This record gives sequence, C-alpha cells and structure tokens, in this order.
Amino acid sequence: MLNRKEFIKATALSLLPVNFLKPGQRSVQIGKKPVVISTWKTGINANNAAWEVLAKGGYALDAVEAGVKVEEANPKNNTVGYGGRPDRDGNVTLDACVMNEKGECGSVAFLENIKHPVSVARKVMTETPHAMLVGSGAKKFALAHGFEEENLLTQKSEEDWKKWLETSEYKLEVNIENHDTIGMLALDQNGRLCGACTTSGAAYKMQGRVGDSPIIGAGLFIDPKVGGAVATGAGEEVIKTAGSHLIVEMMRAGHSPEAACKVAIERIIERNSSNNKDTQVGYIALNNEGVFGGYSIVKGFDISVCNEDGNRVEAITHLI
Ligand code: GLY
Repeated sequence: MLNRKEFIKATALSLLPVNFLKPGQRSVQIGKKPVVISTWKTGINANNAAWEVLAKGGYALDAVEAGVKVEEANPKNNTVGYGGRPDRDGNVTLDACVMNEKGECGSVAFLENIKHPVSVARKVMTETPHAMLVGSGAKKFALAHGFEEENLLTQKSEEDWKKWLETSEYKLEVNIENHDTIGMLALDQNGRLCGACTTSGAAYKMQGRVGDSPIIGAGLFIDPKVGGAVATGAGEEVIKTAGSHLIVEMMRAGHSPEAACKVAIERIIERNSSNNKDTQVGYIALNNEGVFGGYSIVKGFDISVCNEDGNRVEAITHLI
C-alpha cells in the first residue's frame, strides 16, 4: 500500500508524456524565433536562403518558399526538382506543397517540366478555390501563371536512368546519398509558422506514382495552435500512417516535437515489421514556441537548423 507521498509521486509520473531521454538526446529545449529547420544536411544551403527572409523580419511562407527553391534548382540534388531522378519511363515528375500559419494549403502532384513546383503549390493556395492540382491540369495552371516549361532531366540523371534500365530492378534506397525530399518549417518573428515540402519522388517509380510530399497530413501538416511537421523518406509508409498529422496531434496532446516524431516512427514500425531496416522515414517538427525535434527509422537522417545561434546540422535519434 502506498503512503500519501508515494501515491502523489507515482500519479504525477504516470501523467508525464512518454518521452524518455536516451544518452545523446536533447533534453528540454528553449524555443527561439525566428527559426527555420529542414530535412537532411543538404538543408543547410536552403536554410541560408530562408534565413535571409527571416532575419529581416519577413514572412515564414516567403522563407520556406525561398529556401526549398534552392534545392529545386540544384542539379546535383537528384531527389528534388531540376536533376531529380526520373520515373522508369524517363519522365521527371514533381510533387510539392505548402501550408501557412492559418492552416491554408496548396499542393501539386505529378507535375512535369516546371522547375519550381513549390511556387506553383503556393499559387494553388492563393489563386484557386482548391487544395491540390495534378498532372496536366497542374501544368496548364502553372503555364497560365507565368511559369516556364523546361527540361528537368539532366545529362547525369539520364545516364543514371539508362544504367538502371540495364537491370530495371526497383528498390527504395535507404538514405539515398544522405538526402531525399526537402521539407522545411519556419517560425517567423511574428509567430507565423509555415511549411513547404518538395520532391521528385522515388527514383524509377511507376509512371503516375505520387508519394507523401504533396499530401497534406502525410508529407506536411501545420496546425496554427500547435505547430508543424514534415516528412522525408519512403512516402508510402508516411501516407499509410498520416505521419505529419499524427505528429501535430501528438504535440497537441503535450508531447515535445521529438517525442511526437518518435510516436509516428513507432507507428510505421508497428505496421511494417518485416522490412523496417530497408526503409527510411525521417520526420522533423517545430512547435509554435520555436522548439524543434526529429526522429527516423534507421541511422543516417539529420536536421539542418538555423536560428540566432547559427546554421548547423544536428543529429537525429533513430529507432532501429
Ligand atoms: N518522400 C518522398 C516520396 O516518397 O515521394
């Protein structure tokens, strides 16, 4: 039988959210704003562009758009935009979305020959009554709004694809050259939290395949009262578990961003026990106090963070 003091202590402990720290994990973080976070170490250059907007007191949506556009235009990044690896028929098809501090969103999927799908997604949000446009409709809309048609298949991506055709073996690569989709979240000086996510999707996918990145609630979700989350990695797993939405709901229930991301990773593991080690999903999250965190299935994922303390890469804890 517990005495009164022991009872109070035991009850208080049982009410704490499940967020046990392991050696090396961050403990309590003090949130700072403005702040921008992005997926993978390749987010560093994108963060710089976003920070230029945030440091001047600018709007978080302008920051994330400017940030991810850096990687959309980078021909060396073969998982996003220009230079992205094509589908198995040689077509580069792009997916992207944005979400703002009011919970408004815009998205494009299966978009071809437009270098900056994130900017088209923003226009879907601001210029249409819809949330998502796909394929030829998205392209028609982009061209009507002044975007130019261009070839996005670089010589290198074409060579890689032709080499792949020799075996045509389709396999999701884990931590493809240590990057994948770029997802970015920013909290500006005025407390506005916005996000963007953009990708060329899985290399050598079936024609028409769309991943999690343009799916609101999977690749990206923001709740103005809580915070936001964004995903990278195997999109099918993220879609099946509505990952970003789950993370935001966990934060609403009191979890730290890191603990909330861990719950979403555990949800994937629960459903996919046979081949977890061959699957990478990474999540990052930011709450509206400026506290951030992330989690991934396997080793190799990291987060790029920029605030008044500088622009740096931080390691992310992984489950397996
Ligand atoms: N996470 C990007 C994709 O699966 O398409």
